[in-house]
Amino acid sequence: MPHSKISGKAYHDLSKHSYLSVQVNPNYVDAATQPTSFKVYPRFYRRLQLNRNNPIHAFLWLTSAITLEKIYKDSPYKLRVNPSAGALYPTEVYVQMRGVEGIIDGIYHIEVENNCLTLIYELIDDGLENYVIPNKCINGFIFLVSCVYHRSSWKYQDRSFRYCLLDSGHHLGAIAASAYLHENNIQLRFDFDKLTLNADLGFENKEFITSCVISGEVQEKPVRRLRLPIPFVCGTDYFQVNQCVEDAYQTTSLQPSHQQKLEHPEFNFDRERFLENVWNRRSIRRFQKQSISENIYWQILQAVRQPIPTENFEEIEIYSVVHDIEGISPGLYKNTHLIKAGNFREKTGYLCINQAIARDCAVTLFFVSDYLSYQTAMQLAGFVGQRVYLFSNYWGIDCSAIGAFYDDETQAFLETNKDVLYAMAIGK
Ligand SMILES: Cc1cc2nc3c(=O)[nH]c(=O)nc-3n(C[C@H](O)[C@H](O)[C@H](O)COP(=O)(O)O)c2cc1C
Repeated sequence: MPHSKISGKAYHDLSKHSYLSVQVNPNYVDAATQPTSFKVYPRFYRRLQLNRNNPIHAFLWLTSAITLEKIYKDSPYKLRVNPSAGALYPTEVYVQMRGVEGIIDGIYHIEVENNCLTLIYELIDDGLENYVIPNKCINGFIFLVSCVYHRSSWKYQDRSFRYCLLDSGHHLGAIAASAYLHENNIQLRFDFDKLTLNADLGFENKEFITSCVISGEVQEKPVRRLRLPIPFVCGTDYFQVNQCVEDAYQTTSLQPSHQQKLEHPEFNFDRERFLENVWNRRSIRRFQKQSISENIYWQILQAVRQPIPTENFEEIEIYSVVHDIEGISPGLYKNTHLIKAGNFREKTGYLCINQAIARDCAVTLFFVSDYLSYQTAMQLAGFVGQRVYLFSNYWGIDCSAIGAFYDDETQAFLETNKDVLYAMAIGK
């Protein structure tokens, strides 16, 4: 099939892992050739250094902050509030601010490496509303999440489009967590004219918008399309095209999602503890095969299932492979329904490409969906994944995302004909 004809389902199928595909193409790369993972606009743009004592700055800063710096094999690594497949960080965040006290109305790039905002566009009677919420004007914040896809396709090739979308979903989750901590309501949007917006933001074929978050007061007032072009700035130091990723993005951008009524979640976490938790979130690298309590398991799942504030929606179903939860017999479950009993540690480890985390955790979760919009479904899977990280960590449970699994064998094991989008391991 020519790449230009691929839809979400067809893309998902062509990017499946199997035992054979992983043997033939194990994705080995020379680390020295990794493209840069921080985008920096040229020096002449005006910058605003983020000051964490200012609540607006703190809100923006926590959406994308570097939370740990470490040296690994002589190279410095900067880990962030949002997890990322292979720590390649393809996502970028832009924020439009209008009517925000002390800040010039404009579109800003969050420059993560230098902890500042770069003003890339000043607003007059124009703005991002024209693309993302036509005929309305937002007094407040409009966030855009985008992907500089070569950072991920460099290693993961055709499968990287999945990771770009999952990573975008995690980044949306990080924005939601910062909004919760700063008591700002948000709404996620996935169905809008992304292709025109990419062109007007000067992204060429090298970066693409995946989603949007609105936080502010909505007024009935049309806003013009951006009156001036924004120059292209490359998010990596070099670039190699991946036609499959570009075509998959283009075709799946045109597919609208299922729709639902907007509903907000209601969490009552201790905000100070939750802030510490956002700051300290990490992927666990090894589990000790310890059990977790039934109570905490249900607490995590219940909080994860709270409404997601968006009208553009795809349902994410969660299957649990219980290995060691006190009070629950081992087996495959969907919610409380036992599909099959048994000890599936070894099987789950194998399905996740022989990753010990999937074998040694207390429970492995699989997210599946019967979607209309592939982009929305994958991002919501990432968003739910971010909740799993934050809520598990909040209640003292460790967690890791798992994007690599044998697709068809996992689907057969789960006894579903829906696509398996993502997996997560939680335990101790
Ligand atoms: C979409 C996605 C897929 C991932 N897949 C795996 C995986 O298959 N195996 C694994 O060990 N870690 C996986 N991770 C975890 C990343 O390796 C981790 O987020 C990254 O190294 C950054 O570390 P941190 O999460 O502690 O900040 C994944 C993360 C994401 C967001």
